[in-house]
Amino acid sequence: MSSTPTTERQEVSLEGERVPHRLAYFETYGCQMNKLDSELAEQALAEAGFSSTTEVSQADLVVLNTCSVRDHAEHRVLSRLGVLKPGSDQRKEGSVLALIGCMGQRQGEQLFKAAPHLDIVAGTTDFVRLPELYAGVVKDRQHRTALDLSGEFEYARDPRYRSERHRAFVSIMRGCDLHCTYCIVPTTRGPEVSVPLQTIVDEVSRLVDDGVQEVTLLGQTVNSWGKQFKGEPDLGDLLAQLDRIEGLQRTRFITSHPNFFRDRFWERVRDLRTFCPYVHVPLQHGSDRVLKRMARLYTVDKYRSMVDEARESIPDVALASDWIVGFPGETEEDHQQSLARMLEFDFFHSYVFKYSPRPNTPSERRMADDIPQVDKDRRCNELLAVQTELSQKHNDALVGRTLEVLVDGESKKNADRLSGRTRLNRVAHFERPEGRELTGKMVPVTITRVTAHSLYGELAKRPAEEVRKLPVIDSGDRG
Ligand code: SAH
Ligand code: SF4
Ligand code: F3S
Repeated sequence: MSSTPTTERQEVSLEGERVPHRLAYFETYGCQMNKLDSELAEQALAEAGFSSTTEVSQADLVVLNTCSVRDHAEHRVLSRLGVLKPGSDQRKEGSVLALIGCMGQRQGEQLFKAAPHLDIVAGTTDFVRLPELYAGVVKDRQHRTALDLSGEFEYARDPRYRSERHRAFVSIMRGCDLHCTYCIVPTTRGPEVSVPLQTIVDEVSRLVDDGVQEVTLLGQTVNSWGKQFKGEPDLGDLLAQLDRIEGLQRTRFITSHPNFFRDRFWERVRDLRTFCPYVHVPLQHGSDRVLKRMARLYTVDKYRSMVDEARESIPDVALASDWIVGFPGETEEDHQQSLARMLEFDFFHSYVFKYSPRPNTPSERRMADDIPQVDKDRRCNELLAVQTELSQKHNDALVGRTLEVLVDGESKKNADRLSGRTRLNRVAHFERPEGRELTGKMVPVTITRVTAHSLYGELAKRPAEEVRKLPVIDSGDRG
């Protein structure tokens, strides 16, 4: 990662020995939780004296942080491992190759068979042991494996290790207690463990002191946070606490489960200064028959009640969903239900996935992967086409409005433009003004034209209109 604090140390102390300065290189696959874990792994290495490099060929330690959620994700990593064979011009001679994360946790030692040149396999919590594993490999060139998932993940985060200065991920729980039949995550990340409220508040405060304006709280079922603590606080209580942190501008949270918003959640968060009304709460499928086979624990009707309650409190709330097409036994009629529900719930954004059987999950063991690839492709395209129309409609309604944008930096495709995100999580592009550094700043942008996926506009002189409460940040009288 590029913006790690640089260490001036010229030597690394590993198991008490002085060895020359080391460089670590990271490649991260998968979800935001993995991105955060790479930052934590980088921190663990930095504490042992490593620095980061963005050049794989200069690295003493090459780390792939991996994902197992679909077969395709694992294949990408396996082919990358093929390229990173020793002797290839990609690798420094004598460098150590480590695979961490979900694929490591799932496949463990087996990976040494597929890729004998791998040196280290570590799982979704044991990756914090990378410095010690590295030291071991350097000593005797023997493989090292670290896959313990049983311990609590207690790792004091140093806020300096993060890839972006103005926003950060914060893990508020790890693991998942549900058993959706298609999903590998409970296997790779173990049961749910929530982080205590005060630990989260302290971490966010430190991040904000270090310049962070937007935090995204992470968890597999992020809105079930807190259930095991005394007094059973919930995500709404946590959001209210974070809202009192002076300097924090926006709080997001992913991913929510439709069943776990409780005690009039929407009404309680509606007026929080930092709450961003874009909520990712996957329906996964529009047919009750399929939802049952997926063991999602709700019906479409139940999802509808959740949406009604949300929109009653927050009429402009933007909802996003994940969808799986081609789940075993999905009929054309089931698929039509997904299309109809996408329209009915008027989603602001959707991620559509083709079913991929994962080893030893209930659906893989009990149900044949019987939907032909051509049908999966077509159903996927049909859902994407409907979402594109919905997204275009939602974006059309933003033309002429002046929105608050947190600037991320130069637009990917056009160096004359800057881009950032609105509170509703849409990317907005605007012309870069001369002589002003705006990266990491919150600016008002008037939207002049849109596509289904992006907004384009110009810097406005007047303040943004969608800021819900004006920024009196007086922590004393809130709560
Ligand atoms: N915990 C989150 C995200 C889990 S993984 C949640 O419950 O929503 C992210 C998404 O990948 C899921 O929402 C699902 O849509 C998709 N997914 C998970 N397993 C899959 C599989 N075996 N095949 C295809 N898509 C899958
Ligand atoms: Fe997987 Fe379901 Fe848990 Fe999400 S809620 S991580 S889809 S088992
Ligand atoms: Fe994330 Fe992939 Fe693991 S989606 S939890 S990195 S299986």
